[in-house]
Amino acid sequence: MSLDLFAEDDLQQPTRVERISEQAFVLRGHALPQVDELLTALANILNCAPLRQMQTPAGFALSARLSSCGDWGWYTDRNGYRYSATDPLTAQPWPAMPVAFLALARAAASTAGFEDFVPDACLINAYAPGAKMSLHQDKDERSCTAPIVSVSLGLPAVFQFGGFQRNAPAQRVSLFHGDIVVWGGVDRLRYHGVLPIQPGHHPLLGEQRINLTLRKAR
Ligand code: SIN
Ligand code: FE2
Repeated sequence: MSLDLFAEDDLQQPTRVERISEQAFVLRGHALPQVDELLTALANILNCAPLRQMQTPAGFALSARLSSCGDWGWYTDRNGYRYSATDPLTAQPWPAMPVAFLALARAAASTAGFEDFVPDACLINAYAPGAKMSLHQDKDERSCTAPIVSVSLGLPAVFQFGGFQRNAPAQRVSLFHGDIVVWGGVDRLRYHGVLPIQPGHHPLLGEQRINLTLRKAR
């Protein structure tokens, strides 16, 4: 068997791991076996802490709608960005982190070389066609090396993974239902974003993309 054939087999592996930087990986299809559990848990969370439009401190609306679960939820409004223990919309604690989210995040982090990851926050981003996430750094968490585990569900997206300044060139990585991106360590503060979601219909999620980002906030 030639090396080419091995390479081709590898490409067709639905659960392959792609390295996009020193400590950043795309785990293709790694959430697929858990999708039913994830979506059931997600529906319960969104019943208690609905998706909502948020505003930046400067007064711009985020095009993705957001919610959170876990000990800490991320929030932005005219008063600034912050993690809070209660949902400002409902004045209730954020819904608990489902075991399925925790287990998937721990396994994905470990596959990417980050052992003992215990996320205490999960941001939920819902993108309708046309919604996007501009290049930004995740820097509201206490640790600037603990990984981010980002699970893509529903419609595909083009993920931008850039440098340490906003204007540095960014790789473009297509993400599909069930893919997980993990970045941490030396790559943790890279700028990243999502290009506008293209119209489409996903058999399980309809006309949307859902992204879960699991983090250690505190
Ligand atoms: C984020 O950076 O918070 C979201 C990334 C994504 O939706 O893939
Ligand atoms: Fe982010």
